[in-house]
Amino acid sequence: MKTRIAVFVSGGGTNLQALIDFQRDGKLKDGEIVLVISSNPSAYALERAAKADIKSVTVAKKDCATQQEFEEKIISELEENGIEMIVLAGFMSILSADFTRRYEDRIINVHPSLIPSFCGKGMYGLRVHESALSYGVKVTGATVHFVNEIPDGGKIILQKSVRILQSDNAESLQKRVMKLAEWDILPRATQMVAKAIRMEKR
Ligand code: GRF
Repeated sequence: MKTRIAVFVSGGGTNLQALIDFQRDGKLKDGEIVLVISSNPSAYALERAAKADIKSVTVAKKDCATQQEFEEKIISELEENGIEMIVLAGFMSILSADFTRRYEDRIINVHPSLIPSFCGKGMYGLRVHESALSYGVKVTGATVHFVNEIPDGGKIILQKSVRILQSDNAESLQKRVMKLAEWDILPRATQMVAKAIRMEKR
């Protein structure tokens, strides 16, 4: 049986879309996206899931008294749906060590820089690209890595570089990194990990 995947989102969901397109094209050979979990009830990612006929649920942190309650709600969704692998695709909440240990080597994330540059706590969104530009690096990119208790600290699965242009600002760089790197390596890494999990079950 294919590895059952949940994708966690909070926003626009362009990375989710890249995964949906990859699946539609028959390239997600060893996995199936069966659930989308959003931390934000108005995330456009939810519409993308609906259009692709993928079940989705919102678990909003503000409706939970504690991080533990938030994670318990997520875990019950994961268990109800037989989820074996989690892809973080623009998910804006940090997961506790209890959560990440429970799914060791089963959670992957995409980060918009070449780790270990411009990563770690507080490094997300445009800030990553602003930092790369102000440091003056000539090459940046994206990284897909396993998720552990250290923000952006888990084992690296795939990386892809993107050249910085003299004309770049943070917005233009963010767009190019997504288009050239994130939307390419996140689906490919998802397939790699889904395959490894499927093999383990044999
Ligand atoms: C991406 O830049 C991703 O690297 C980061 O959040 C952004 C998500 O965008 N973690 P989207 O919701 O997939 O469009």
